[in-house]
Amino acid sequence: MSGRIKAAVLASGRGSNLQALIDAARDPDYPAEIALVICNVAAAGALTRAAEAGIATTVIDHRDFADRASFDTAMDAELVKNDIEIVCLAGFMRILSTAFVEAWTGRLLNIHPSLLPAFKGLNTHERALEAGAKLAGCTAHLVTPELDDGPILVQAAVPILPNDTPGDLAARVLEQEHVCYPLALRLIAENRVRIENGRVLVDAPSTETTALINPAPF
Ligand code: GAR
Repeated sequence: MSGRIKAAVLASGRGSNLQALIDAARDPDYPAEIALVICNVAAAGALTRAAEAGIATTVIDHRDFADRASFDTAMDAELVKNDIEIVCLAGFMRILSTAFVEAWTGRLLNIHPSLLPAFKGLNTHERALEAGAKLAGCTAHLVTPELDDGPILVQAAVPILPNDTPGDLAARVLEQEHVCYPLALRLIAENRVRIENGRVLVDAPSTETTALINPAPF
């Protein structure tokens, strides 16, 4: 497994996106290994998933720190100590300081459950349903100091169906998160990404399927 990029995952919860990254990295041809998982919540399911995969884990509880800066400094020290090259936020529910984000510029990824720039922030599925949107989706992006705003790496769109609850929509989107996030990490780890004017140019084929239209034309 040597020669692969060392990635860390920061998570706060159940860790299904972490699992997608772990599963992708089981392929020896995948360019990154998940070398460390940091959780700010000791009960996070992500810790169990990491332990089951034999991945090193660290709990850094934000409540043990006086402020955001010292919490972020502790995480940064742990990442550096473990020779981490890329950091993936996967349901990490803390806002990061500008200093931390800038220290990891171009090497800090996030997965967000909406088609950015629509529905930044929390409760994305409730808000998409309330807005009457007909499509939803997810976005893997590079992190910049402004919340949910960095250069977009990969997106997937799904239909919103007439009787969807927020939970139904979350499940449909989550399935695509698990496809998009390993792809995004791969693009970064294989150095296939160039950023021009805040936009990502990807050295990879574009999808050529026809448009996703909802409701279906008839
Ligand atoms: C995912 O849907 C992720 O997109 C979202 O939290 C969930 C974590 O699930 N992230 C955010 O809302 C970040 N703003 P997971 O723990 O099963 O990966």
